[in-house]
Amino acid sequence: MIRLKYKRVIKVVTTVIALFVGVYIIYKIKSGLQPNRMPVPVVLVTYSRSGSCFVGNILKLDDSVFYVFEPLHFLKFGHRVLHFSDGSIRTLNTYLTVAERILRAWFSCQLNEIPLEYWDEEIFQTTKIQGKHIFYFKERYKREIYGKYRYPRIFRATLQLLEDMCIKSKLVIIKTIRTPIFMLNKALSELDNLKVIYLYRDPRGIIRSQRRNLYISKENTFVSLNDHAENLCARIFNDAITFAILSHYYPEKLLPLKYETFTMNLMRETKHVYNYMNLTLTARHVETLIKMTTTKERAKYYIPKNNSKELVDRWRTLVDMSFVDTVDMSCSHVYSRLGYLQISDVTMLKNISIPLYRNNDTNKQFHFGQEIPV
Ligand SMILES: *[C@@H]1O[C@H](CO)[C@@H](O)[C@H](O)[C@H]1NC(C)=O
Ligand SMILES: *[C@@H]1O[C@H](CO)[C@@H](O)[C@H](O)[C@H]1NC(C)=O
Ligand SMILES: *[C@@H]1O[C@H](CO)[C@@H](O)[C@H](O)[C@H]1NC(C)=O
Ligand SMILES: *[C@@H]1O[C@H](CO)[C@@H](O)[C@H](O)[C@H]1NC(C)=O
Repeated sequence: MIRLKYKRVIKVVTTVIALFVGVYIIYKIKSGLQPNRMPVPVVLVTYSRSGSCFVGNILKLDDSVFYVFEPLHFLKFGHRVLHFSDGSIRTLNTYLTVAERILRAWFSCQLNEIPLEYWDEEIFQTTKIQGKHIFYFKERYKREIYGKYRYPRIFRATLQLLEDMCIKSKLVIIKTIRTPIFMLNKALSELDNLKVIYLYRDPRGIIRSQRRNLYISKENTFVSLNDHAENLCARIFNDAITFAILSHYYPEKLLPLKYETFTMNLMRETKHVYNYMNLTLTARHVETLIKMTTTKERAKYYIPKNNSKELVDRWRTLVDMSFVDTVDMSCSHVYSRLGYLQISDVTMLKNISIPLYRNNDTNKQFHFGQEIPV
């Protein structure tokens, strides 16, 4: 009796093992025939008015790139109760929780995990600055997209088409000005292939340009220059330190990109960044790049007029020493960390031939100062 039971158990166990081996062999053969590789996720982390549209437009030139422009922008309207295409509603309490999840969904092309609120949003609607896949999706499936709350099944089926395009891409590149670098810590430790490009610019140039923009859009003009500089530079300082720490742990996953160096040596730097992303800069890319930086059309596409020194340094002709002195109070510790120079007097400020950054190397190393100022 006991013996019989024992035999039966052995038989069952053997069958199960055989089944597993079989499934494993089939899986191996299948994955050998059609390697189901997911795209490599790349995040371009930066600040508004730091040349990120320009750099983003260069990164998205390659056909194998699935480019996502500001996927967290819609959260600025305070959405924390989010709707999903499967009908579920989730309430997430903090910005960081929501933002992290959304980035993770894009990293792995899980578009059902993108809240429906995203597809209602102006950034998604403003298709010219989006990548071509999202552009095409938006143009081709207007009705299906607008019907997402009433006809979720149709919307899901349509979304699947975009998801397939995402999965087939070689890279998913996400451009974001709403991601503090520390937020990427978890993803960096969990995703072997994640790459982070940190695009930064002289804070004095950023602040001048941001204030001009706020003034034009009649937003927030009551924020004093003091407060503005303090907020921005606290954020940059935090990012710069976190970046340095993470670079220590994941040296090959993080690339610093100084905007000034990038625009001053556009071809060389573009080649370098393409190489970092394992893309080849072709003759066609170069041609487009030249067109992008020299035609009149570019303003419409958020592209700077040209890559000339005048453009990068234009802010210097528009500010006075009192602007510089005020910004210095909150930002001088950031200059030393990122390799920018203190402006000593009006001659240095106005003479564009005098560079305001310490060196002229490629962006290979992050030129942090040696010590953390107190
Ligand atoms: C780089 O791209 C080539 C061609 O697409 C591919 O064969 C190779 O595996 C890629 N290497 C890495 C490290 O992703
Ligand atoms: C950039 O613009 C300036 C003035 O707008 C012009 O003088 C210069 O030739 C332009 N440079 C290029 C490379 O187009
Ligand atoms: C600007 O600086 C350069 C380099 O230091 C110098 O050669 C030039 O004379 C300066 N121009 C003016 C107008 O001061
Ligand atoms: C920067 O480096 C390039 C090539 O290494 C050189 O041609 C150029 O003159 C340098 N510029 C300055 C301002 O030193």
